Amino acid sequence: MDFGAVVITFAVAGFLLWAAYLLTTSRTKDLQPEETPQNLAPYVSDDELENNRLTRILASAVVAAAALAAVMAVYYIAEADRQAEAVEAFHERDVEEGEHWYEHFSCIECHAAGGVGGGAEYIEARSGLTTTWAAPSLNDIFYRYSEEEVVSVIVFGRQGTPMPAAGLEGGGAMTSQEVDQTIAYLRSIQIPQAEAVAKVESAVSQAVNRISSGADGVQARIAEQDEEIADIEAAPGIYSAIADLPVTIDDVLAGAETCTEASAELVSLPCDDPAVDTDRDGISDDAERRLNVIAARAFDAVGSGSTIITLDGSLELSLAADDAFSMADATGEPIADLESVSEFLRLFGTAELSYRIAAERQDRFLPPAEAGLAYLEESSEAAEWEVDFETIADVAFGGDIDDATRAVGLFNSYCARCHTAGYSAGVAFQQDEGSGAWGPALTDGRMLVQFPDIEEHIDFIINGANWAENYGVNGLGSGRMPGFGQLLSREDIELIVKYERSM
Ligand code: HEC
Ligand code: HEC
Repeated sequence: MDFGAVVITFAVAGFLLWAAYLLTTSRTKDLQPEETPQNLAPYVSDDELENNRLTRILASAVVAAAALAAVMAVYYIAEADRQAEAVEAFHERDVEEGEHWYEHFSCIECHAAGGVGGGAEYIEARSGLTTTWAAPSLNDIFYRYSEEEVVSVIVFGRQGTPMPAAGLEGGGAMTSQEVDQTIAYLRSIQIPQAEAVAKVESAVSQAVNRISSGADGVQARIAEQDEEIADIEAAPGIYSAIADLPVTIDDVLAGAETCTEASAELVSLPCDDPAVDTDRDGISDDAERRLNVIAARAFDAVGSGSTIITLDGSLELSLAADDAFSMADATGEPIADLESVSEFLRLFGTAELSYRIAAERQDRFLPPAEAGLAYLEESSEAAEWEVDFETIADVAFGGDIDDATRAVGLFNSYCARCHTAGYSAGVAFQQDEGSGAWGPALTDGRMLVQFPDIEEHIDFIINGANWAENYGVNGLGSGRMPGFGQLLSREDIELIVKYERSM
């Protein structure tokens, strides 16, 4: 407990004692009516007052005042600490609340726990294909942006990317306090600068690998798309092979010759005349035999390799009329037959529904899937992710392939997501290097026009753009272009700049 509370406790206790004293003395007076009332009784005489009594009263007042002064001084000494503690406590609460908002407003779903970066499912507009759009790490965000710039991204989102506008002004649901607390949380999870800088090497090699494995990646994607189309085409056939099973299953579980009360209840029907159930597991002997056949048929028809829905081996029931536990779960625990059948019904129900929809709407699903495939094939042909390192080396780096490779790796890791259209959506979706996306296009010698002096170009990359501040010859900053001086070495920035100037 702190000093302030002690003082307050004493003060309150003193006041209460004093009030009690006043009350009791006035009561005693009431009990002696013959005495002169207090207001009429003569008080202490002047002589007496101006002698001992006054001195005593004044002395005690001086002592009390001195004590109070001393207490105030002592109290004051701790004041600075107390304030700092209060600020700290507020800050800690902000960080905690911020972490809560980070989850509540789904930041965590795209940027991952601890802000290490992740991805967002996204339907890419031109191809109609679902892809994963890279969501940047936020645990190093303040090495790239000022606080206001981060607030503005959170509040207004990024159009044309999955980053939603989360703040009230942007049309989202976060109040400014919630945004501020999220910022406090983001501050608390920043990795040390050295660690952020150390990530550069792996980022560069990943970006370079992405180029060399691009063709394989798109081919794999094409194979997936082929499979999806084949599945959509096969759906009506598969559905017709299982379409009669739901009725058959009802007949078996609740039919006159084969039902038990427990099995009929699985399909919410009554059973008036239960059939023989030797192992008393809730499924009649006949039903067990017939369900094995049904499950085998369902499994055969649907199989396990489909992109529409896959059925696992638990559809292969093997019920035996004299064994109440004919299957075991993953840990080897026996599963009662009634339970296996109920699980079979659940899985089969989902599969049946999926294939019914796929079959009925085949003509709705097929065209977009085929358009997606056509897009991928074109993309594989155009191979826009490919980079001609030799030409870049010749044009910008005096023939030095290593410099050219590193420059491209750096540009792709740190700049491409804003300056190369579709980069974040993956190789199949990206366009030419520097083609412009959320940030302007950098191609066709534009850099030489904007920054006639290379030093100015380098400074710009080091510091980034600020809101409403001019840069270069005719640039007007919006604060959306980050500064990279805290993440990339000057040598690396020079490599990027030389590369950009050759675009
Ligand atoms: C649906 C996924 C998604 C959600 C939810 C989401 N983000 Fe993002 N965020 C992204 C993507 C994707 C980007 C990168 C956009 C781009 O390519 O420029 C991004 C970018 C950012 C950036 C800029 C990072 C940079 O380096 O340019 C910040 C800051 C940010 N998000 C913070 C947040 C916060 C805080 C929340 C929660 C309130 C949030 N995001 C919710 C997907 C998401
Ligand atoms: C988060 C998105 C983003 C990233 C990442 C980014 N930029 Fe930018 N860049 C922009 C925006 C937006 C502008 C326009 C200025 C503004 O609005 O502040 C810009 C402007 C520029 C310009 C000036 C273009 C002109 O003609 O006016 C250059 C050069 C540039 N960026 C280079 C880079 C380099 C190099 C990197 C990587 C080291 C990079 N940018 C990373 C968004 C980004």
